[in-house]
Amino acid sequence: MILPIYQYGHKVLRNVSEDIDVANYPNLQELIVNMWDTMYRAEGCGLAAPQVGLNIRLFVVDAGELSESYPECAGFKKVFINPEIIEESEEEMSFREGCLSLPGISETVVRPKTIRITYLDENLQPHDEEITGVPAICVQHEYDHIEGHVFIDHVGPLRRRILKNKLTNISKGKAGAHYRIALP
Ligand code: NI
Repeated sequence: MILPIYQYGHKVLRNVSEDIDVANYPNLQELIVNMWDTMYRAEGCGLAAPQVGLNIRLFVVDAGELSESYPECAGFKKVFINPEIIEESEEEMSFREGCLSLPGISETVVRPKTIRITYLDENLQPHDEEITGVPAICVQHEYDHIEGHVFIDHVGPLRRRILKNKLTNISKGKAGAHYRIALP
């Protein structure tokens, strides 16, 4: 099922999300399938639960589309449940990011190049992984969502001011998204 994608300005994107009680969360597998369907329909490479209106610590990433330019993205398709970033490298990298909750905006963001993250996958198996390069950028972008942040929070005040009208249009549903949206 395709879910509406909550747009910038909605409070659900600003809450800190809660861990899932994996033993008791209803229809978790169905939710994960719906999030993949929603992400692919909108042609995104990641989607976090707050973007479908749920303040739970769950996101999906498929960076495979980027593998032509960034070989380290090949086959990087993962579900992250109750993730925790436990280490970040001092070395940083910049990457031009976009977001399905902010259609029409892309900005260069600087983030740690390598992270270490613990999480459960869709089969509830625990992982403790080091991720580096563009896949690490994608994961940090989605991780931001479950912490109540969006990527433009990393952009300087001058750029933010330039984006102000675009942001207002997004929150009014006037940004021309080609997928189902939910407005503030
Ligand atoms: Ni996003």
